[in-house]
Amino acid sequence: MPISKRVSKIGLSPTMKVAAEAKEMQMRGEDVIDLTVGEPDFPTPQNIKDAAVRAINNNFTKYTNNVGIIELREAIANKFKNDNELSYSPNEIIVSAGAKQSLYNAIQALVCVDDEVIISSPYYVSYPEMVSLAHGKSVIIPTTEESGFKITPQRLRNAITEKTKLLILCNPCNPTGTAYTKEELEKLVQVIDGTRIYILCDEIYEKIIYDDFQFFSVAALNEKVKSKTVTINGHSKAYSMTGWRLGYAAGPQEIINAMSKYQSHSTGNASSISQAAALEALTGQQESVELARKEFERRRNFLHEALTSIDGLTCYKPEGAFYLFPNVSAFFHKSADVLRIENSFDLSMYLLYKAKVATVPGSAFGSDGYIRISYSTFMDKLVEGAKRIKNTLDQLT
Ligand SMILES: Cc1ncc(COP(=O)(O)O)c(C=O)c1O
Repeated sequence: MPISKRVSKIGLSPTMKVAAEAKEMQMRGEDVIDLTVGEPDFPTPQNIKDAAVRAINNNFTKYTNNVGIIELREAIANKFKNDNELSYSPNEIIVSAGAKQSLYNAIQALVCVDDEVIISSPYYVSYPEMVSLAHGKSVIIPTTEESGFKITPQRLRNAITEKTKLLILCNPCNPTGTAYTKEELEKLVQVIDGTRIYILCDEIYEKIIYDDFQFFSVAALNEKVKSKTVTINGHSKAYSMTGWRLGYAAGPQEIINAMSKYQSHSTGNASSISQAAALEALTGQQESVELARKEFERRRNFLHEALTSIDGLTCYKPEGAFYLFPNVSAFFHKSADVLRIENSFDLSMYLLYKAKVATVPGSAFGSDGYIRISYSTFMDKLVEGAKRIKNTLDQLT
């Protein structure tokens, strides 16, 4: 077999599998409502698109500095200062082709063979695979809706061994939308104080936060925590720029330098055009960010109410992101026609074929018992989708 063991053991992103099936059904002319979407449905704001066109016309189309253009890294440093009370120099920042690449670079830079990496489930699907590609070992802490899908200090303490190198936090979280308060973060970092454990905090959904929740960046707790934390962020979700592939990381210079070395031999720099656009995103008007946030909040409120009115279904009301993660385990071991539901994959498939609503099984995120429903789509689709889900689940006996 020509494929390396390293790559053979990882799988294609499971979220993509369900979405692909839904797309195929749509292409066959079926009226499928796709609630698997992992990106904002709004277009990239016009001022950002204009900046990219200007960059092309000005021939800003060549290689850039490996870590990103200085103007963008300065703008990112300002963003950290203004939004998060975090002071970074441009040398402590690297721009990558998406937050995903920054995450990947950080894990490659930090994780040695057999190092343990603590991740809470439900998790963003790529974390354990990235750890596996670095020959590390994921140690999963399961969480449930009762604890707001948050790791408790005690659970964290129990998961730590002398091999633990890294704790990955996703705040706010994909797939649950849960977000940690400053006090909760404080209690978690107390547990790892005095250890060799680093924190990798993925804050890509920072701008999509509801109900006056105060987002807090873990690195801002104090200088000691900052010196052990790599913060990941990017433009995909806040500025609806998923296709532009623009993300970044900030952290101790030694780690950023290692990430830079790694990136220099893989993708090199992020696209010059995307960097020009990203600079405009950070320094131009911010109204579109707030408009999107408000619309997501309206949709979350509607969908949460609609889903929790379904008999047997419970759902944590998330503080951020654009997903709901309802508990559907009450429908397991039930049947409709000849079909019997045993797990979240069966349930997602049942909803796809019977209700023509695409969702992602919780098992993809390490939490069978749940499904992920994205509300990054028009309100009329959500209204119809919720109606179909209710009717279809009501048929299970
Ligand atoms: C938690 C989380 N981190 C990172 C990413 C990747 O972001 P990017 O598009 O910037 O690579 C995603 C995308 O869905 C995400 O949900």
